[in-house]
Amino acid sequence: MNLSAGVAKIPRRSFDNLVIGAGGGGLRAALQLARADLTVAVVSKVFPTRSHTVAAQGGVNAALANVSEDNWHWHMYDTIKGSDYLGDQDAIEYMCRAASRMVIELEHMGVPFSRLDNGKIYQRAFGGQSQNFGGDQASRTCAAADRTGHAILHALYQQNLKAKTHFFDEFFAIDLIRDKDQSVLGALVLEIETGELLIIEAKTTLIATGGVGQLFRTNTNARINTGDGMAMALRSGIPLQDMEFFQFHPTGIAGKGMLISEGVRGEGGYLINRDGERFMARYAPHTKDLASRDVVSRAIAIEVREGRGCGENKDYVLLKLDHLGADIIKKRLPNIREIAMTFLGIDPITESIPVFPTAHYTMGGIPTNRYGQVMQSAAGGAEEAVPGLYAVGECACVSVHGANRLGGNSLLDIIVFGRAAANHIISYLEENRYHKAFDETSMAASLERLARWDRQGEGETVSQLRSELQAVMEDYCGVFRTEDVLMTGVSKVKAIKLRLSNVYLQDHSKVFNTARIELLELENLVDIAIATVEAALARCESRGAHSRIDYPKRDDTHWLKHSLYHLKEGVVDYKPVRMKPISVASFPPKDRVY
Ligand code: FUM
Repeated sequence: MNLSAGVAKIPRRSFDNLVIGAGGGGLRAALQLARADLTVAVVSKVFPTRSHTVAAQGGVNAALANVSEDNWHWHMYDTIKGSDYLGDQDAIEYMCRAASRMVIELEHMGVPFSRLDNGKIYQRAFGGQSQNFGGDQASRTCAAADRTGHAILHALYQQNLKAKTHFFDEFFAIDLIRDKDQSVLGALVLEIETGELLIIEAKTTLIATGGVGQLFRTNTNARINTGDGMAMALRSGIPLQDMEFFQFHPTGIAGKGMLISEGVRGEGGYLINRDGERFMARYAPHTKDLASRDVVSRAIAIEVREGRGCGENKDYVLLKLDHLGADIIKKRLPNIREIAMTFLGIDPITESIPVFPTAHYTMGGIPTNRYGQVMQSAAGGAEEAVPGLYAVGECACVSVHGANRLGGNSLLDIIVFGRAAANHIISYLEENRYHKAFDETSMAASLERLARWDRQGEGETVSQLRSELQAVMEDYCGVFRTEDVLMTGVSKVKAIKLRLSNVYLQDHSKVFNTARIELLELENLVDIAIATVEAALARCESRGAHSRIDYPKRDDTHWLKHSLYHLKEGVVDYKPVRMKPISVASFPPKDRVY
């Protein structure tokens, strides 16, 4: 494509709303907007039903009380405790109160939830769920066997087709268009097949591009999870919040990373070490294998570090589920069985699965309020909404997950806040009815960046550098951290950023556009990696998933606050946690034991 022709030659399309990302958050928002008779463009770099929501296994939390006594207030308490008190309590209340209605709404849209004998939606136990504020285990996770995300994503896509949402499939979003008055007026995107640019003008833009699991070598995430929306936000001057909190799921297939759902432990499976010991009883005497994920992941890492791992290299533990019986495994965990057979050649009906913690979920992201509005610092330490810009789901930090997310709360987050953001947009558009013209120079930096495509010749390849980045993040920003290790991580990631200018795309005539996309993704990954290690280095305490060996305790006096990493200035600053819920009393921090 000819970049020198300039902005004027780039074709344009106009919509009321642009949604970037076609996972559950983007599609839930788009559906609400399309049903309100607004025009909606959804841009997705993959065919929508290949978005990463499709991979969510275990389920979606809602206090339906179909299996155990339950209510949203207990769910709220568990979520706040799970977040290690870093979650914003207004947003958490909003999410937990809305959950039951949202799940029933999904059922009515056609999500084929598993059923109890009485016909009600099946709910399984998941980690960190309790009755009565820390009492007995609750069963709160509504499941469609172990393919819940798949069921939800397909239902939402079909509903969007019916509502006439306009899809731009296999288009890659390059940058937000942000005008001098700070409003966001759409995005510059690229059609992957042709390499042609397109400007999508929109009165509102909603980022729903998911998380950034591809920062790490071993992860549960799709290859597409490169944090594109977060990086776009960073480049346009918006900070990223709480990036030091990255969730390692306790049960990834050892050495490979594929997710083995917490649903396995919810159905009664448990972890054992090389001595056959059910070791979680030592780490979480009350909840054992259903403690929250940060606790279980650390326990596995300690077992291995202290020589009680399994196998020749003692580098994993075993997830035992053969005692559940073939019927339960085939009915409730068919996907897990298939994954174990495909990737390990073992049948969990008779054999245990080797597991180790694997990078899974980005708790941090683009700062928003509970209406999905993207927030930025304003004068006098206040915050203000970026006009026209919204974010939901894993790319956002609302913050309902704080320092550690509970399993089953991510599908909930996307459907609750996808809908909430769309409702806010609908009222925003009543006051902001017209497209604003934008200054074409606002795209100059993006076009300069794209000029990188024209470079050919010697240097490093994208895949070499991406693998190196993932290895650095795994080795220097993993489950356990220290100042020395993180400082090395910062300098290694920054060195990789410098080497980006030495990356080449080989001979253009032989390169598919996917190679160009991988370069753009790598640039995104590198900026987010820097945000992550810098925020981790700065936080001198242990909280949730951020575990500092040199600062082993949570420190509420100094660190009960959200971090904000700013790319241009390269600095981390902080803002308070919203401790005040909407309608009930706060849950003040206390010792977190399971
Ligand atoms: O373990 C799982 O099924 C994952 C669920 C989640 O991350 O919410």
